[in-house]
Amino acid sequence: MPADTTLDDRAATVPAEAVAPLIRGVAVVRQLTDAGGVLSLSGLERATGLARSTVDRITGTLARMGYVRLDGRDAVLTPRIMELGNAYLAALRLPSVLDARADALADELDESVSLAVADRDGIRFIHQATRRRAMSLSFRIGDLLPAERTAPGPLFATEWTERDWAYWRERRAADPEDRGFPAVPPHSSSPGPDFERAAVRARQDDWALDDQLIEPGLVAVSVPVRDPGTGGIACVASVVSHTSRHTAAELRGTLLPRLRGAVGAMEDDLRALPRAESVAVPSGLATWTGASKQELGREFVESLARGLTVLTAFGEGRAELTLTEVAQATGLPRATARRALITYEHLGLVAASGDRRFTLTPRVLSLGFPPLSRTTLPDLALPHLTALTARIHESASLAILVGDDIQYTARVATSRVMSVNIAVGTRFPAYATALGRVLLADAEPARVQRALRDPRPLTPHTLTDPVALAAALETVRAQGYALVDEELEAGLRSIAVPVRDRTGRVVAALNTATHVARRSVEEYVRDILPELTRTASAVEADVRVAGRFTRVPAS
Ligand code: PHB
Repeated sequence: MPADTTLDDRAATVPAEAVAPLIRGVAVVRQLTDAGGVLSLSGLERATGLARSTVDRITGTLARMGYVRLDGRDAVLTPRIMELGNAYLAALRLPSVLDARADALADELDESVSLAVADRDGIRFIHQATRRRAMSLSFRIGDLLPAERTAPGPLFATEWTERDWAYWRERRAADPEDRGFPAVPPHSSSPGPDFERAAVRARQDDWALDDQLIEPGLVAVSVPVRDPGTGGIACVASVVSHTSRHTAAELRGTLLPRLRGAVGAMEDDLRALPRAESVAVPSGLATWTGASKQELGREFVESLARGLTVLTAFGEGRAELTLTEVAQATGLPRATARRALITYEHLGLVAASGDRRFTLTPRVLSLGFPPLSRTTLPDLALPHLTALTARIHESASLAILVGDDIQYTARVATSRVMSVNIAVGTRFPAYATALGRVLLADAEPARVQRALRDPRPLTPHTLTDPVALAAALETVRAQGYALVDEELEAGLRSIAVPVRDRTGRVVAALNTATHVARRSVEEYVRDILPELTRTASAVEADVRVAGRFTRVPAS
């Protein structure tokens, strides 16, 4: 059974009004997700059973939407696709309200803490504060686990109907090795009756244990976070450890009380939460609608693009939308929006209430989120640096501040213009480099003072006068870039711009360097600076999407 395909997907007949290209597009995205974010086009052909020409058109359309990058024979998911999972997480609101408590508990216990929601007969993570040591596998936001192999599972099962149990039994029979759950190692033993007993116990205790159900050594204890309005389980908080630090019994004795305390605080937060203010629905999300067929190319699958746009109509304050609201937000005709919603309902990505209000389901996280949820800033920047290098035919790099130095975190080289070798990890004094000046221009005053306390001349041109250096930083702040000529190495000219996160903080600097003889300063500023700025903006756009519900490490 393909990953994440439920029995229902296979059994239920496809509604007549479902949009076939949207179903195929979702299948392609899911296969890419399960493959870890990269799959060759022929691999996709095999995994989906679609014709090669169809795979080409779908991946081409996803590439045009910025959700996939075509890299030789491979299709690669891009951070931008996280906006689909972000729409679900924003609509849910739980991560933005509860993440900080989960992170604080992880810090306090020095153990991993996670939040999970029910996804049919599985659990799906909506937050991970990971402190996991090398010895155990760790899950990502969006990963789906079979309920019976987790601690949150029995808690969610206390709310299962007879139909849910029947569904679960059927799935167990059809997939005894958990092949439908690519995030967990397959297994053969059957915890069937144990799980039903665990659910009975969970109802009495209001907490549950995972004593190495996923893999040897991995233990977890879980407590439900209840919705103050309905009393139902909003999500489940877990502390995860390893038997080398805590036995399952110790988890209960030492960690459970602390977890309970944190969950109590989470429930208080939920009680204090004002009702989601209904946010005016955006409009015109489906920018493709207006574009001509000629602009988009003959291969562009418009029904797929329109359908995917429907998911982005949802968000914070827009958790439940009517068909009219979806049509309005996307700018799509009602009939088109309706068919997309019918398709998503069929795929289990959207749920409809009795009065036909639509919500996203946790399964939306299966559309690309897990493999991208651990993306670092260098990962994210690299394709953009490659594109920049192709345009300007000069090396491009990304760097961060480490102590008083800059350290390269990503680099795409063309030819070697510097006598020194630069590789990822190389450090240079910040004060003498364009990258360093961009980073120092946004740094804390104490840090700047330290970095500038003892500047040494590295070439005859190196600025070493503290007043001149302070003025240089002021210039960088005012003009938004740094240009440094031959201060690090004779003959070397470098220009750098900042890369900012969602909050406007400079998280890295991006540069290109060349020999002074190749281009004048004026040419550099006129021709190269706009390309650098454009690249920084593209990286920042990815950082904004990827950093909304996950942390994007700077290195
Ligand atoms: C996790 O957060 O990784 C986790 C939570 C509960 C489990 C196992 C793992 O039972």
